[in-house]
Amino acid sequence: MKRYLSHPFWQGAIVIVVSYVAFEWVIGYVLPVIGVASAPVPSSVILQYMLTVLVGIVLYMSADEARWKSFKKPIHETMVARDRKTLRGILMVALPVLIGWLAYQNVRPSYAAPATLRSVHPAPPNQLTFRGETIELTGLENPLHEEGSIEEHLAVGKRIYVRNCVPCHGDLLDGQGHYAPAFNPVPADFTSSGNLPQLTESYVFWRIVKGGPGLPREGTPWDSAMPAWETILEQDEIWATILYLYDQTGFTPRTWEEEGEGGHE
Ligand code: HEC
Repeated sequence: MKRYLSHPFWQGAIVIVVSYVAFEWVIGYVLPVIGVASAPVPSSVILQYMLTVLVGIVLYMSADEARWKSFKKPIHETMVARDRKTLRGILMVALPVLIGWLAYQNVRPSYAAPATLRSVHPAPPNQLTFRGETIELTGLENPLHEEGSIEEHLAVGKRIYVRNCVPCHGDLLDGQGHYAPAFNPVPADFTSSGNLPQLTESYVFWRIVKGGPGLPREGTPWDSAMPAWETILEQDEIWATILYLYDQTGFTPRTWEEEGEGGHE
C-alpha cells in the first residue's frame, strides 16, 4: 500500500479518482441541497474540470525531472516491457471497448416518448349511453349512498378493484401497477390530491364507463390505455368501485355545488 501511495503515478491516479467523486458529489448533491445550483449541472462541465485536474497533475509531475521519470515509468513499462504482455493485451482490448461503449451510450436513441402535455381532466359530456341506456351526468349522484349497506358496497368495490384495476392502478392505488411503466400517459394515481378530490362521482363514473376510447375529440391524441368498462361491469359495480376508491384514499368527491363555482381544470 505504502509503495503505491508514495509512487507519483498512483498519486496521480488517486487524485483523479478523488476529484471525480468530489465533483460528482458536490455538483450532483451538495449544491442542489444548499440551493446554490437550481438546475442539474451538465456532465460536460465535470469533463472540463477533470481535464483541468489532469493538466494540473501532468504539470506538477513534469516540474521535477526525477518525479517525471518515475511517473512515466509504469506507463512506459506497460507499453513495452516483455513481462507486461498479458496486461497490455487486456488493455488493448478493454480501452477501445470502453471508449466505444461510452460513445454508444452518448448517441443511443432513447425510446421514451416525450411527456405528454395535455389537460389532465377534460370536460365531461352532459350525458352518456350505458349499453344503449341514456344517463344524464349533470347533477348525477352515486345511487349507492341511498341504497343497501355501505360495507357491502365497499366489499364489491374492493373485489372489482382487485380483479380489474390493480394491474394498472396498483395495489396502493398510486398508479404503479405492474403494467403501469408500459403506458404513456401512466395510469391515474388515485392517492394524488389532484385527482379524486377534484372530481365528482359522476365524472369518475363517466371515465370508468367510457375509459380512454371515450375521451373527447379535443386534446387528442390521448393515447390512454384506460379500458372502457361498460361491457364488463354493471353500473352498480362501477358505483361500488367509486365508493371503494374514495374510501381507500380518504378523499371526498367534489360536489355539484362546488362544480357550479368553476369547471374542471
Ligand atoms: C390497462 C390499464 C388500466 C386498467 C386495467 C385500468 N385503468 Fe384506469 N386508467 C388507466 C390509464 C392509463 C389512465 C390515465 C389516462 C386516462 O385518464 O385515460 C387511467 C385513468 C383512470 C381514471 C381517471 C382518473 C382521473 O383522475 O382522471 C379513472 C377514474 C380510472 N382510471 C379508474 C379505473 C378503474 C376503476 C379500473 C378498474 C375497473 C381501471 N381504471 C382499470 C389505465 C387502466
